[in-house]
Amino acid sequence: MTDTEFAREVLAGLRQKQKALSPKWLYDQRGSELFEEITAVPEYYPTRTEDGIFDEALPDLAERFSGAAVAEFGSGSSRKSVRLIEAISPSVYVPIDIAAAFLEEAADGLRTRFLALEVVPQAADFTKATTLPSAFSEASSRLGFFPGSTIGNFDTGGAEDFLRESLKTLGTGAAFLVGADLVKDESVLRAAYDDAGGVTAAFNLNLLTRINRELGADFDLMHFRHEARWNAQRERIEMHLVSALPQTVTVAGEEIAFAEGETIHTENSHKYTVDGFEALAGRAGWRLDRMWTDEKDWFGVFLLTS
Ligand code: AVJ
Repeated sequence: MTDTEFAREVLAGLRQKQKALSPKWLYDQRGSELFEEITAVPEYYPTRTEDGIFDEALPDLAERFSGAAVAEFGSGSSRKSVRLIEAISPSVYVPIDIAAAFLEEAADGLRTRFLALEVVPQAADFTKATTLPSAFSEASSRLGFFPGSTIGNFDTGGAEDFLRESLKTLGTGAAFLVGADLVKDESVLRAAYDDAGGVTAAFNLNLLTRINRELGADFDLMHFRHEARWNAQRERIEMHLVSALPQTVTVAGEEIAFAEGETIHTENSHKYTVDGFEALAGRAGWRLDRMWTDEKDWFGVFLLTS
């Protein structure tokens, strides 16, 4: 039980001065369900705002990328790619995701839905450069797709590295369509990550339930609370789990001490300005070709070219 990647990373994260865990661990079965619920709460604007932007952008994208080869990074359920596939009828669709079983299931769903579409799933860590199937790499028109502002989970250096690696994966000449959440009023951001219905709190606290179950830990969920902080200097929302009192928790046989008010940092969600995102992409070798936003400038869909 202590010999898994999860156990090793959790223990290493909890031994740090600022305790921290990777947001990727938030997504067990229950966590994935809770994230789906978050996308529907009134305060969480990113998903529905990006969907609205795609309504506007898809006709333009269809004109430009009709019949292109498409690769989606961290495709998950491929829900968003359905609309892109409908609009541009790609020659081939390559969903890239680390969760192999889920990936095959999603691929089968797409094959049933789009009988003429060639779906070539690639089980890989999308944060690193990977060799895509020749049906993609030999296509004359190639488009990468990374919606949902998942890029916000990387720190600034990580996002730049990711964009550089993605250019290697997609190949020079490719375009990359990236959704990124924009800097806005702090109250809007805080509410989006601490909704009144408590769904985001449940999502964050579920990580402790997962650690209890999978690593035989004894976190008392009554003694931790969810907190969403706006870090103005780094322009990011941080999710933390705050210890309500001094306590000791046993995780995989190891005792971890918490002072009152001490936190486990569980996620960063970086927000960008248009100029900041363009500069970031530029450092990684991409040019900003075009961007679409909503009427409040809350979310950006960026078309990068190389
Ligand atoms: C899936 C990373 C885009 O940062 O908005 C939502 C995750 N965390 N509410 C985000 C999340 C809390 C989400 N991303």
